[in-house]
Amino acid sequence: MRSIHSYIERNFSEKRKIHTFAVRDLALKLADHYGADREKVETAALFHDMFRGVPEQSINCYVKHLGLDPKYLNNPNLAHGKIAAIIMERDYGISDPEIIQAVSYHTTGRPAMSLTEKIIYIADATEPNRVYPKVETLRRLSFENLDKALLLSLQHTIKYIQSRGLYLDKDTVLAQQYYEEKEKMNEQQENSSSCGPDPEQ
Ligand SMILES: [Fe+2]
Ligand SMILES: [Fe+2]
Repeated sequence: MRSIHSYIERNFSEKRKIHTFAVRDLALKLADHYGADREKVETAALFHDMFRGVPEQSINCYVKHLGLDPKYLNNPNLAHGKIAAIIMERDYGISDPEIIQAVSYHTTGRPAMSLTEKIIYIADATEPNRVYPKVETLRRLSFENLDKALLLSLQHTIKYIQSRGLYLDKDTVLAQQYYEEKEKMNEQQENSSSCGPDPEQ
């Protein structure tokens, strides 16, 4: 089977290598913290950006030949994870759907993500080389409450995309709605259970 390590060595810029290994290291810390499968998390982290930085012409060629939705044409930011998710199965024999989904949705998120998916999404957004407002809050929150961190990250992403007039993928919108609902339900449950025992009849 082909090795992702030699692919990284041959194709990645120094900056991309640093990012990928930083995502892997942080993802493993989160995996240990939340009891996720280390092997799945590490594999997803190493593959997640294998098509990041590939020239747009080449990305468009993959989009057409792999039969991906035309919305990914001229949009390498969205397409790179989708292409990687297919190629890692086709050429590297990775068949675990949880690993494939984690790579596929690492840019957009989606509703009802698995633990591996959440960890990759958050590790990608908060690895130590990332610098943007509120990243420290996200880093702290990601070890306290993964769903809350995910929601905050999705909200930031949507605000950023809208403020720049960029293309907003529906999976990101649906993910935000899903985790907002989940958060509301959790709050309601907490409030109702904090009333103590029912009064005697
Ligand atoms: Fe990426
Ligand atoms: Fe990344």
